[in-house]
Amino acid sequence: MKPADSVTRLFVCTAQKDEIGKEVARALKIELKKQGLKKLLLGGEKRKVRVQTCNCLDLCKQCKKGPGAALIVYPEGTTYGNVKPKDTAEIVECLGEGRVIKRLLIE
Ligand code: FES
Repeated sequence: MKPADSVTRLFVCTAQKDEIGKEVARALKIELKKQGLKKLLLGGEKRKVRVQTCNCLDLCKQCKKGPGAALIVYPEGTTYGNVKPKDTAEIVECLGEGRVIKRLLIE
């Protein structure tokens, strides 16, 4: 049976006062292209990957008050905080391998 949603979405908060969220989203898009992961195979399932900017994710302590942005991987529900553009290569790499980055996780 085909899953209802075969898209992994990376929602990046862009509600900070500076441009960090937009910079993270831009860097994620570049990394996905660079690593050839705009489509990935996860658990035998083909998934498209989309990066979407959004408003506040209600994780502001890890976003507005920190130097980085908050993001949520949907539908997995992985939540990262204080993400900076330099973290995006690792995020995309882990996404392709079905792993998470513990140091950025918000529990
Ligand atoms: S401002 Fe980014 S989570 Fe609230």
